[in-house]
Formats: sequence, C-alpha cells, structure tokens
Amino acid sequence: MGLTFFTIFRYERDKIFANILNTSALSTDAQKIISQELGSQIDTLEIRIYIAVMIFVMISASFFIGLILHNINQILKRQRRFIANASHELQTPLSIIKTSTEVALLDKESLTKEGAIKILENSVHETDRLSLIIKNMLYLSTVERNLKKLPMAPINIEEVVQDIIERCQLLSRQKNINIIYDNQTNNQVEINANKVAIEQVLMNLLKNAIFHSPVGKSITLTLTIAKRNVHIAVRDHGPGIDWWEQKKIFEPFYKGAAAAESGAIKSGLGLTIVQEIMLQHGGRVMVKSRPGHGATFSILLPI
Ligand SMILES: Nc1ncnc2c1ncn2[C@@H]1O[C@H](COP(=O)(O)OP(=O)(O)OP(=O)(O)O)[C@@H](O)[C@H]1O
Ligand SMILES: [Mg+2]
Repeated sequence: MGLTFFTIFRYERDKIFANILNTSALSTDAQKIISQELGSQIDTLEIRIYIAVMIFVMISASFFIGLILHNINQILKRQRRFIANASHELQTPLSIIKTSTEVALLDKESLTKEGAIKILENSVHETDRLSLIIKNMLYLSTVERNLKKLPMAPINIEEVVQDIIERCQLLSRQKNINIIYDNQTNNQVEINANKVAIEQVLMNLLKNAIFHSPVGKSITLTLTIAKRNVHIAVRDHGPGIDWWEQKKIFEPFYKGAAAAESGAIKSGLGLTIVQEIMLQHGGRVMVKSRPGHGATFSILLPI
C-alpha cells in the first residue's frame, strides 16, 4: 500500500515539475531557483508523509498482531480449562472407586455381604459415569474436528423429530411426563444436515427437559418455519435457569446444582455438544427461562 502511494506521489510530483519548468514565461535562472526551492520543500514533505505512512502501517500491524495474539490466548485458555475440567471429572469417579475398594480390602474381615454389594454397585455407577464422560468427550472432539467432512444429506426434519420423541417415551413415562408435539409445518420440510448429529441435539434437549421436569408435568416440542429457518423449541415446566447461569450451561462440564447433587450420571457436556453441532450446521441454540417458570431451549436450522 505504502509503495503504491509513493509511486503515485512521485509521478504527480514529476508532472508538476515538468509543467513549471516548461513554462516559457520563466527565465532559466528563475526556473533553476524555483526547481531547487520546490524540490527541497517537496523532499521534506515526502519524508514527513513517508514517516506518517510508516507509523500508520506499524500501528495497524501491531493492532492486528495484538488481536491475533489475543484470540490465540483465548483458545489456549479455553483448552487449558477444558483439560483441567476433564482431568477433574475423570479423576473423581476413579478416586471413589479406588477409595471404596481400598476401605473394603482393609475391612475385609468384617465386611458383610450387603456392604460388599453396595461397594460393587457404587463401582458400577462410577464406571458408568466414567464411560459417559469419555463417550461425550470423544463425540465432542469428533464434532469439532470432523463434522464438515461428515456426510450432510437432505433429511425430513418432521420424521426425525417424530422418531426422537418416540425414542424418549420410555424415559418420559417413568416420570409420567407427556411429550406434546406441536407440528406447525406441512411435513414436507427438508434440510441439509447430518441426521445422526441432529438426532443427538434433539435427544440431549429432550433428556434435559425430562430430567428437570417435575413428575406428571408435560413437555411441549414445537416445530415451525420462520424466515427460511426450521425452528424447534423444547419447553418444560421445571425449575428454570437463572439469568447468570444461562451462558454458563453451554460451557464444557458445567452442571447446575440440581444435576450435580442428584447423583444421576451426567457429564455436563450435553449442551456443549448441542452448541457445537448447531454451529457446524450454520444454526444456533438459544435458551429462554424465568426461574420457577420452566425453560425453553430453541434451535434454528437454515433450510
Ligand atoms: N431444561 C433444563 N432446565 C433446567 N436446567 C437445565 C435444563 N437443561 C440444562 N440445564 C442446566 O444446564 C446444565 C448443563 O446441561 P448439560 O446438558 O450440558 O449437562 P448435564 O445435563 O448436566 O449432563 P449430561 O448432558 O451429560 O446428562 C445442567 O446441569 C442444568 O443445570
Ligand atoms: Mg444434559
């Protein structure tokens, strides 16, 4: 940019010089004086402009380098946090299994059959937790790295939603929860997507809604088309989510108090996976909630 600027500048300067010197009304001496005087002033001006341009280029470059370094720093920070959280999440069930087994071995003389069964059940529970965390971590890394290369094909979204609702019935019936399907489309909506990934998104949202819903309450899944987007909303009548928590719930391994204290097998990766899959599809996930009045998770997918 600087080089082009100076080439144009010099070209214009030489043109002005030629015009002045070619003026026949001036004597040779006058031409000499004018060209010397004008030449030195223009040279000074040229140097000043050159310095100003260099300063501008340097400031712009350092601004962009700063921006890139800031982004790299953020990515590294996120990765470090992910590794620290993952290590903690994997370490906890392992420590529980190890400690309870060691205590049982120390106490083996007095260990009752019931006591041994309890320890074994506990170990199975913690092993299940470990395998869920590992399964979700692997899935997340596959989605982050590979989804663009995974086959995307036209899918009928209505069929996919219907299928996932049926697959969730077993879980919802255990809590006497009715899943109401409010389909406001003509059943002909096709989108280009990865079917397995979209099934995973719907499954994660419905599982969360079932988990947080009180017994006997209903969940509504609404399917609509808005501005060339498929809009799917999952609404529950659970405790809802505080505003300060609404951003946190998408962070890897984040679990709210109810989920963490429930003792249920949870990885805290469900919504991170949903968000990642939506990004890869050029869509997004949103949450709306008022504590005490349930939560609505919505996804937007471009048609
Ligand atoms: N429908 C909901 N109502 C209230 N809180 C919710 C709802 N869905 C998610 N949350 C909150 O967001 C947190 C993160 O959800 P996410 O699905 O990522 O993890 P999880 O459900 O705890 O674990 P996993 O998905 O492995 O079962 C939950 O622990 C919970 O606190
Ligand atoms: Mg979940």
